[in-house]
Amino acid sequence: MKETEEILQKAQRLAREAGKIQRDHYETDIEIRTKSAAIDLVTEVDHACEKLIVDALTRERPEDAILAEEGGGTDHEGATWRWVIDPLDGTTNYAHGYPRFCVSIGVEHQGERTVGVVYDPLLDELYSAVRGGGASCNGRPIHVSEEPDFANALLATGFAYDVQRSLEDNLNHFADVVKRARAVRRDGSAALDLCYVAAGRFDGFWEMKLHAWDVAAGLLIVEEAGGRISNMSGGPADRSGKQTVATNGHIHDTLIRLLARD
Ligand code: IPD
Ligand code: CA
Ligand code: CA
Repeated sequence: MKETEEILQKAQRLAREAGKIQRDHYETDIEIRTKSAAIDLVTEVDHACEKLIVDALTRERPEDAILAEEGGGTDHEGATWRWVIDPLDGTTNYAHGYPRFCVSIGVEHQGERTVGVVYDPLLDELYSAVRGGGASCNGRPIHVSEEPDFANALLATGFAYDVQRSLEDNLNHFADVVKRARAVRRDGSAALDLCYVAAGRFDGFWEMKLHAWDVAAGLLIVEEAGGRISNMSGGPADRSGKQTVATNGHIHDTLIRLLARD
């Protein structure tokens, strides 16, 4: 079997296993702590999911580099493959029992996004993509929407955990878009927001100050579903997640023009 296919299957298996932990502990009494700010939460389930994935990769693919949000990864210099993992994307939702969260696993080959898997354990939706191979949800091909008109578009965005103390808070962009589009959602899981663009549920998504683990899988899934990804000026999408724009392509330039306004 080709190595990329093996990696895809491993990512799918691990995303499902971590998703089962999330499902089993959903709306139970779990330990919750804060990280960078009082509104930045982490739960014992974030850690348990990360441990499951990182332990398996360390055993099964010891040469690969791993970047994992809660710090469990190892940076093997010169590694050909790098796994970029958000063990639980949507922690605030999870802590409040709001049913929108997922596991996100992106894999880069020599620095290029190559495999992406996002699993929503409550809806049992497994989004997958391999570079050049299209995107799917539960094995069925998915495509971005065909909506050409910004006024009819449904978009999503999010706010970073420094929103209460930073002037770069995305609120001006939110106001600009909400006045022009059909509606804007803030659903609390960037990885799922990207998959929803890929599946044609959202027509577009943007967010500032995300991290590599939020976008590593979702950006590839959008690209492979026929969408367009970029930074906030329309240039190449940022691997770090600092500036993320993803759309069906048709509304992209309009969104970039709006985000360029101060
Ligand atoms: C967060 C979610 C949220 C986004 C935040 C992210 P986490 O990730 O993706 O939608 O707005 O910027 O940090 O902390 O739940 O993994
Ligand atoms: Ca995240
Ligand atoms: Ca997370």
